[in-house]
Parts: sequence; structure tokens; C-alpha cells
Amino acid sequence: MSHLEEVIEKRHSIRQFNSTDVPQEIIEKIIKLASLAPSAGALQSYKVIISKERVVDINSPVQLVICADLTPNKYGERGLFYAIQDATIFGSYLQLIATDMGLATVWVGAFSEGKIREKLGLEENLKPIAVIPLGYSDIVKQRGKRKALGQIIWQKSAPKDVSVKNDIIPKMLSVVIPAYKDPLLHRTIDSLLENAEGEIEVIPVLDGYWPETTIRNDERIRVLHLGRNRGMRGAINAGVAIARGEFILRSDQHCAFAKGYDRILTETCQPNWIVTATRYFLDPVKWQIMDIPPVNYEKLVIQEGVKFAGRPWRERDKGRKGIMIDETMAMQGSMWVMPRAWWEKVIVELQTEGYGQMYQDSHEMIFKTWKAGGKMMLNKNTWYAHKHRSFVAGRHEGTKENPSIRNESGLYALKVWRDYYEKEVRPKWGI
Ligand SMILES: Cc1cc2nc3c(=O)[nH]c(=O)nc-3n(C[C@H](O)[C@H](O)[C@H](O)COP(=O)(O)O)c2cc1C
Repeated sequence: MSHLEEVIEKRHSIRQFNSTDVPQEIIEKIIKLASLAPSAGALQSYKVIISKERVVDINSPVQLVICADLTPNKYGERGLFYAIQDATIFGSYLQLIATDMGLATVWVGAFSEGKIREKLGLEENLKPIAVIPLGYSDIVKQRGKRKALGQIIWQKSAPKDVSVKNDIIPKMLSVVIPAYKDPLLHRTIDSLLENAEGEIEVIPVLDGYWPETTIRNDERIRVLHLGRNRGMRGAINAGVAIARGEFILRSDQHCAFAKGYDRILTETCQPNWIVTATRYFLDPVKWQIMDIPPVNYEKLVIQEGVKFAGRPWRERDKGRKGIMIDETMAMQGSMWVMPRAWWEKVIVELQTEGYGQMYQDSHEMIFKTWKAGGKMMLNKNTWYAHKHRSFVAGRHEGTKENPSIRNESGLYALKVWRDYYEKEVRPKWGI
């Protein structure tokens, strides 16, 4: 982390100060450095008043009153707008500089302008913008909650029907399970809850049905019931939209997990990664891993000219045994983790147009990720087990409302990504 990043992370609004005074030369040094902030036409249309008396009701030894200087200048009416911006930028630089020098601050906007004017005898052209109490404090604060990137970056194309929760909970993992009539959903949820080591929430997305037996009671479970069937991609999109964790894990409705899967997959996950883990085969009757070698790396190929497919890539496996976290080309798609912010910035949603409701979703996400400069990763430090295909039932495979269109889906994916795959992906991977 750079020094600036550290200072930005360290700054918090502090509203309680200890009695240590702030020497005048420190105050002036902070102000001098803050005056290096940008200002319209370099006019620095602001003034700061150093008050040792309380202007707002906070017990700091010093309070800085930041004013916009509305004295007419060459910018005419727009100059008023600039003066407010100049003062605001100056104030926010000042907060960071004070933080770097070991001081605490808070930006106070709630004050009576009249009372401040009277108390300080302000000239008419000075408009108080903020009061910044300044001093030393013994309070230590954790990083506050912030909106996810996707809520800050405005995109014309952002999906309209996806309402996003404001508060992203740092380090938390939200598990989204698109579910359709598979009785194994309950065991999958048990496995996720019992093997998690950190904070998780599990979001079973009941895709237009209610299960025959009720879902267990656990405050980490947030059931999302869709009134009408939307299909697998729609269910994943809906689940992610209400997820509150910094990371998302998508799981099929018939999977078992290793102890600590959540911690192992998230603690090394970079902002631009999609990560999967070693995949075993699950005997869902015995709820045991089957005696078949697991799948690690997968190679991305075009199968019979009709679709993209991941193929177990055993040669790569052999050569890279000791590399526990490594790049791969494809995955089954039944379990992956990514930062929520990456989903919002790059994936945005699993597209239903063209692809239909199922199939090719993992390739869609990986292609989008590569294009945006990210990576598809395999973390061999943990595993999950996915129901072996010899056991029937319970695929989220398509319904009356959303029939599966396997062939069209594959051909559509080729139409969109084939060129990129042939020209950039294959040469990069030497396949
Ligand atoms: C324009 C503005 C006005 C604010 N007004 C007040 C205020 O009147 N009183 C206060 O205690 N905090 C005030 N704050 C501080 C915010 O509450 C604080 O920045 C926010 O909760 C985020 O917390 P953090 O600064 O610790 O990251 C204000 C912040 C801004 C930018």
C-alpha cells in the first residue's frame, strides 16, 4: 500500500479529542500544505479562521472555519460556484494532511451560519462552508462502510431491475445459490454454514418454487424467493443484487465444501480475479467424495464448432503441482468467488439475451474478466465437491417459463467471443 493510500485509509471522522494542544506552527504547516490544493484559476478563493474557541459543539483544542471567498472575480457568477469548490477541496486536503501528521479531524457542515458570522465577525464576502475541529485523539476507528463501486460509477447500461444494497460489509462472503427443486439444497447450505470460518451470508435463490421441506433456521441465511421463475442466470443476478458481502461465492445447489473454504478463497483474492478451487466429485447419497481424481486446471476449447467448453487439463496439473494459486483457462462454473466490486464493474450481470437462461455463463464471465485485464484463478489450497453426473435430478436446467437452449447458447457465445478467443486467448496460452 502506498503512503497516500495508508493516509486515506487512516482518516476517519473523529468527534472526541484529548486535551493535548496543537502548536501554532503545526496548524500553519497543515494550512500551508493544504493551500497546494487545486483552485479555479489558482485564485484560492477561500479563507480559513483558526479559532481556539468552540465554534461548533465539539471538544477540540482548535477549530478551523473554512470559508468560500465570494468576492467577485473574473469568473462572474460561475466564480461563486468555484469559490465553494476551492474551499471544499482545500478542506479535504487539510483533513488528509492533518491525518498524516497524527491529528484527528471531522468535517462539520451542520452549523448556524448566522451564529458563526456573529461570533467571528465575518466579512460579508466570506461564506462558511465547514468547521473542522482539529486536535489529538485516543479514539481508534475501523474502516467505515462505503457504497460498492457499481453504485458510484454511473453507467447508462446498468441494469434497471437490479436494486443494490448500499452497505457492503468488508471481508464478508455472500454465497448465492440459484436453486430449483433440488432436495440437496439443504445439505449444500449445511455444508456452507458448517465449514465457514469467517462472516458469511447464504442466499438461496428459490427460483419460482418453494422447497418441500423448510430451510433451516440460521441468522446467516437470507432466503430470496422469486415469485416467477427467472432461470439460472436470472436467479444468480437477483441473488447478487441483494448480497452485502465484499465477496460473492456462487454455488450450485448440490455441493459440499472444505473447512475454511470461505477464508482461503477470499483472503488472497485480488480485485480483478475470479477464483475457483479443486473440484471433487460428490456422491450425494453418501454425501462423500468419490474415489475419482479431482479436477484442477481446465483448458478452454471450442467443442465440435458448436460451443465453448472447459476440459480437464491434466498436463498442466503435473507441471505445476507446487503452485497452489495459479491461473487457469476455464472452470465448470458450479463454484466461483469474486469481489463484489468486480462483478459490478465488469460482469454487471449474466446476460440472458442470446445465451438464454443457462450454459456458457462461466465462459461469459471469464471472457469479460480477461478483456478487463483480470484473471481466472485456481486456488488449490481448498476444494469443493460437486454432485457427480451419474446421480440424476435437480439440475437448474430450464423450465416451462425458461426453457434451456443449449445449442443456441453455445452458438451465441461463439458469435460474441470466437474472434477474441482465436486472436488473443489461444496465442497467449499457446494452445
Ligand atoms: C458535507 C459534509 C457534512 C458533514 N457534516 C457533519 C456534521 O455536521 N457533523 C458531523 O459530526 N459529521 C459531519 N460530517 C462527517 C460525516 O458524517 C462523515 O464524513 C461520514 O459519516 C463518513 O465517515 P468518515 O469520515 O469517518 O469516513 C460531514 C461530512 C461532509 C462531507
